[in-house]
Amino acid sequence: MKNYFIDKEFESIIEPIMKNKEFQKLDTVTHHGISRLHHSLRVAYFSYKVSKKLHLEYKETTEAALLHDFFVDEVDDENVLLKLRRHPEHAVENATKHFNLTDRQKDIIRTHMFPITFTPPKYIESWIVDIVDDCSAVYERYHSLRKEMRAATTFMFIVLINIIRMR
Ligand SMILES: [Fe+2]
Ligand SMILES: [Fe+2]
Repeated sequence: MKNYFIDKEFESIIEPIMKNKEFQKLDTVTHHGISRLHHSLRVAYFSYKVSKKLHLEYKETTEAALLHDFFVDEVDDENVLLKLRRHPEHAVENATKHFNLTDRQKDIIRTHMFPITFTPPKYIESWIVDIVDDCSAVYERYHSLRKEMRAATTFMFIVLINIIRMR
């Protein structure tokens, strides 16, 4: 895992959220093959970098990006697409229980799955988190798939070697 805390300003923005006991539980939930906390940190860090570079509301953006998947209990739905559509609203509800969110932050969390969810982002900051989240998801899925492929290949080689030895 990249050491995101090397940036002192980023560290100071995320510190109050990282200290929250309920938020820390995200470290126990698997998401794209890694922990949901790890995924949220990646999205927060790159959203911070991009929004700061563009002179946007980067503190609000970083906090909302960190909270964009803030829920421990899964959305109760058998349908995968509906689950994907409902989880941003679930994250907004959960995040508002623990933190005071601005309208911009609620919009960032609520629209981070656009166009899978139908309402488009209202703010440029919401577009940034939406795009950063997509890029992070692709990167994380690719790496987790690569790990699984490596494990499967190793297993196949072991089986093959044993078959050859038995002959
Ligand atoms: Fe999400
Ligand atoms: Fe996400």
